[in-house]
Amino acid sequence: MTDSTIYNCNVFTLPKIHNRSGNITALNNSIDLPFDIHRVYYLYDIPGGELRGGHAHRELQQLIVAVSGSFDITLDDGLNKKTVSLNRSYFGLHVIPGIWRDLSNFSSGAICLVLASHKYDENDYIRDYNEFLKIKNKCK
Ligand code: TYD
Repeated sequence: MTDSTIYNCNVFTLPKIHNRSGNITALNNSIDLPFDIHRVYYLYDIPGGELRGGHAHRELQQLIVAVSGSFDITLDDGLNKKTVSLNRSYFGLHVIPGIWRDLSNFSSGAICLVLASHKYDENDYIRDYNEFLKIKNKCK
């Protein structure tokens, strides 16, 4: 996780089954995803102007999907930053370990679905940005 970069965080186009009554996206472990899912959670009822994230993970991988509405995710590897705007239910941003993320610009009614590679573990979080930078710079 010390040498992970934002360039390894890609937007996946998720499968979409379309017919005239709407769309379905189904995600299967080992087939449609870059890791196996052990937890699913979602953010909703986010007040306008609110920020989420503000941390990195040591081991956790995530696929983040705007299943409704839109929001921005700024990724930071300690050296470079990039902002990805998610606004379609069939795009998923893969966030690998060792990447600081800030979520912002939530539209009204936005729902942020997160598929996660591990169960919740507070010890996996890096919530202090200076600690994050120290860990990342070890390998540079
Ligand atoms: P956090 O991951 O910091 O939220 P975000 O990145 O969306 O801003 O989690 C916020 C709180 O919710 C924190 O106290 C931990 C708790 N939490 C759980 O108990 N289980 C979970 O699976 C998640 C994601 C968070």
